[in-house]
Amino acid sequence: MELSRRNLILSGAPALLSAQGANEKVNVGWIATGTRGMHVMRMMYQAVPDNVVVSAVCDTYAGNLAKGKDQIQTMGKNTPKTHVDYRDILNDKSIDAVFIMTPEHLHYEMTIAALKAGKHVYVEKPLAHTIEEGQEIVREAKKSGKVVQVGTQNRSNSLYIKAKEMVAQGMIGEVHYVRAFWYRNAIEQSPWNYVIPAEANEQNTDWKRFTGSAKSRAFDKDRYFRWRLYWDYSGGISTDLLVHQTDISNFVCGKTEPISCAASGGLYRWTTEKDKGEVPDTLSALYEYPDKFHINYSCYFGNEQYGYGEQFMGNEGTIEVMNRTTLRFYTEKFRGKPPAHVSARKEFVEEKPGNDTPAVQNHAANFIRAVMGKEKVIAPVEVGQQAAVSGHLATLSLRAGKKVLWDSKTQKYRFV
Ligand SMILES: NC(=O)c1ccc[n+]([C@@H]2O[C@H](COP(=O)([O-])OP(=O)(O)OC[C@H]3O[C@@H](n4cnc5c(N)ncnc54)[C@H](O)[C@@H]3O)[C@@H](O)[C@H]2O)c1
Repeated sequence: MELSRRNLILSGAPALLSAQGANEKVNVGWIATGTRGMHVMRMMYQAVPDNVVVSAVCDTYAGNLAKGKDQIQTMGKNTPKTHVDYRDILNDKSIDAVFIMTPEHLHYEMTIAALKAGKHVYVEKPLAHTIEEGQEIVREAKKSGKVVQVGTQNRSNSLYIKAKEMVAQGMIGEVHYVRAFWYRNAIEQSPWNYVIPAEANEQNTDWKRFTGSAKSRAFDKDRYFRWRLYWDYSGGISTDLLVHQTDISNFVCGKTEPISCAASGGLYRWTTEKDKGEVPDTLSALYEYPDKFHINYSCYFGNEQYGYGEQFMGNEGTIEVMNRTTLRFYTEKFRGKPPAHVSARKEFVEEKPGNDTPAVQNHAANFIRAVMGKEKVIAPVEVGQQAAVSGHLATLSLRAGKKVLWDSKTQKYRFV
């Protein structure tokens, strides 16, 4: 009853939960329990154990479905229904919200179907596999009035929230330039080094449901378990890593979409049949934004010396957030003679080891509380689409070998 009163007074609050009760538990259906699905579920249970019940779980690989069920039994203390077809979850009227944790190419179909079935949705990044799919999701989300949270959890990371506040307070002056990068290495196998379970086969994986609307092919374990390496299912570095970083640059600097992107790269490091796929291991992308703003992005998978992060380079100072765990603030020196108002700002370092853990916990909890009508989501669908647009533009530019222009009014791109 408490919940319904709150919903009445919150404008734009979502519809009442079907499973509400004295304990205000959101009834969750979990779609996919691979690496990310298992992790986010753990984080959700840790963050809001009293506000969720996961009553159903779905995965097309029997091994992961069993792991998902186990985790729910251990952490949630209930036995969920298990499904191979996600539509069985959507058909369950008692389920309020779904977490969609599948590979990228399935986000569109599942998110649209979930919204049409009246579910609130937490969907992993990237929002969708193409710009056009994302646009449809945004439209459907608006029509449905349901809560959508996109899995760009850096927005829920205290260091980025601090960086955003510092930029807004003018601590680094005007910001026209961001340098963002992600460097990784893996000794012998490609960096998306997901182990293919030895016991996985055509009988215990549902290849057709994995394929979805992607090109029909013969069963292929590598494609199923290392889907990030193939264009059919993934946009590569751009939609896997870059979207986090363009998203957080938008968040910190108050930006939305770029007006152009020129990207280049290739497969330089991973060259053996065993390791390589189709998507590059090396990518650079240059973005121009309206109002004189530039992002210089680079990613290489053959050397991890410099880690990953973003450097917000203002006219009066720099904020860098490294590896999601360290924020450094530097004042600009102006050839050794900083103006008094700049030198008065104290440089500092803030270290928060393991800070992605609370970020994911906060992100999942924020979604659950938004479903309960208590908060607004920090990564709504429009923001997820803006981040995805920058990712897709990089993939389009890279694959065409041309610069691509983006018109945010018409929401269309063209090559030049
Ligand atoms: N926010 C982040 O920091 C972050 C980190 C890692 C992954 N991700 C995102 O999470 C998503 C999943 O990535 P992952 O690393 O967990 O991949 P994964 O391959 O480990 O897991 C994917 C799971 O989906 C299952 N699956 C495939 N087709 C299915 C279908 N039709 N129905 C139900 N289940 C199906 C697979 O069996 C597997 O268990 C991707 O969108 C990825 O970009 C986000």
